[in-house]
Amino acid sequence: MQISFWPKTLAVLALFLTLGGAGVRAQSGLIQQAPARRVLSLNGSWNYIIDPYENGFYDYRREAFDQSKTGKGGYYDNQKPSNSQEPELIEYDFDHSPALQVPGDWNSQDPKLLYYEGTIWFKKNFKLTPTAGKRYFIYFGAINYEAHIYLNGKKLGMHRGGFTPIQYEVTGKLDPSGDNFVVVKADNTRHADAVPTINTDWWNYGGITRDVFIAEAPGTFIKDYEVQLAKNEPGTLAGYVQLNGGGRAGQTVTLSIAEAGLKQTVKTDTAGRATFRLPAKKLSLWSPRSPKLYAVSLTSGPDVVQDKIGFRTIQTKGQDILLNGKSTFMRGISIHDENPLIPGRARGEGDLRMLLTWAKELGCNYVRLAHYPHNEAMLRLADEMGLLVWAEVPVYWTIAWENPATYQNAEAQLSDLISMGKNRASIVVWSVGNETPLGDPRLKFMTSLIKKARSLDDTRLVAAALELHREGSTVHVDDPLGEYLDLTSFNEYAGWYWGGMPSEITKYKFEIKYNKPVMISEFGGDALAGYHGDANTRWSEEYQEALYVNQLKMLGAIPGLRGMTPWILTDFRATRRQHPVYQNGFNRKGLISSTGVKKKAFYVLQEYYRQQAAKYDGK
Ligand code: GCU
Repeated sequence: MQISFWPKTLAVLALFLTLGGAGVRAQSGLIQQAPARRVLSLNGSWNYIIDPYENGFYDYRREAFDQSKTGKGGYYDNQKPSNSQEPELIEYDFDHSPALQVPGDWNSQDPKLLYYEGTIWFKKNFKLTPTAGKRYFIYFGAINYEAHIYLNGKKLGMHRGGFTPIQYEVTGKLDPSGDNFVVVKADNTRHADAVPTINTDWWNYGGITRDVFIAEAPGTFIKDYEVQLAKNEPGTLAGYVQLNGGGRAGQTVTLSIAEAGLKQTVKTDTAGRATFRLPAKKLSLWSPRSPKLYAVSLTSGPDVVQDKIGFRTIQTKGQDILLNGKSTFMRGISIHDENPLIPGRARGEGDLRMLLTWAKELGCNYVRLAHYPHNEAMLRLADEMGLLVWAEVPVYWTIAWENPATYQNAEAQLSDLISMGKNRASIVVWSVGNETPLGDPRLKFMTSLIKKARSLDDTRLVAAALELHREGSTVHVDDPLGEYLDLTSFNEYAGWYWGGMPSEITKYKFEIKYNKPVMISEFGGDALAGYHGDANTRWSEEYQEALYVNQLKMLGAIPGLRGMTPWILTDFRATRRQHPVYQNGFNRKGLISSTGVKKKAFYVLQEYYRQQAAKYDGK
């Protein structure tokens, strides 16, 4: 049965297929504080069409439709239906198709899509009449994994990477009538040369998983800025402002922090950039115990950007981590971007605040946002609630180390993460990867990422979860990558994946090659909440409790121990975890279950953190 009508949206579907790859522009550099410039949210219901064979993008000879215009072959070149100017796709009709909620992964919105990996097309009509002289940008908080984006039938671009913002300038592309529509081809297919690669231990949630909006700015506007304390100079404020596009020489830009009595006016150079540096002796420094944020305003002509920024220093000295010059212990927990109570990607501030409130209840001053860039809103909440952050790119396990495109992808995700987070006091660690197997290609890939991170931001620590190996009861940490990092961080699963029962693991000693602060980036074990047994009954709460008791004893023997982020705050969906009794598609290492129940091990860690806080913060 074929629907033989030709609505505008169907024409658009065919039309953009012909323009698919034509004139694809790289996305513009990310606008700092973009959510503050939102004029129209595109969150809500989006019609969708599931397209496992990508018939909306390729013809039946697997030729991308956009080639048909150039005569490079493709079904329609010589068999185009006589009665139309474009390929006929009469089985596709967005406006009569079902809807999914955005933001939101598709897997958790329809049982038929729980395991779906492939393409889904999304379409959203919206009304926005552009104002002359204003500039417009479309902004997606994240689309997992590959996105082709079209506005009013014209392609804006293609983006790969499931966890960083996507932004395109659409000035001059909005319909003067005010009637517009955006179409997205989202494809969460895993690829060996992608970042992450085909094997991970989290759910491959696909779709438009974070906020979508149209941002508006003046013709000349403040596109980017950084306002932080100068490296290791707690009394000096330094940074830059970048106006959009070059040729904005001689523009004045004023930085003002009224509460601190600070103000400085600078002039931009020929590239539209201005740097500033000024004494700031009286600032109250940001810390988890005192998460002080200042209202910062930047003004250039008609454009005023307001932000709330905390100021602090972070550095290492031997095996100490110094926060504002004081030795600190990082009482952390690892967190995935997922709401356990309503499984699926965290959808908004409520989900995020719930997760961080649990972390605070646990006694944390620190969270590891694993294993990929989290929502920008999560970083702002960490600033507000007083939690230090380890932020990470998904260079996870067996990446295609020798593929240049894979490296470029990883570097782009790292650059976007740093661009998004550089003004957040909470972020103290950029992590370039997790449990990556030893080898020269991996070392080259990862040290290049480390170099890139330091070139973009020399004020924060750089880390990664290193590899370790065991000889008898000695655990050796001598991963060559550790040479290049500020922390000696590693995941160790004594008492779960190796080392016998929890009561046996205190025999292990750690031989660590580097004289750097030691940060245990993961330890833990599964427990099904409500399943009880003795300390040797695997999967029971008592087993997990005994594991934590003995892990903390074992780790306490490491002289340079300065922090930890046990794995993990809450149970989370993981495709690899299919034990029919204890897992059912969930990784159960959470201290809190997927129904919000605190397991017995939660209280073991909570008491340990109370003691650490008294020891370090009490000073
Ligand atoms: C690894 C990995 C995690 C994973 C965990 C586990 O260390 O970093 O992503 O979930 O172990 O096995 O549960």
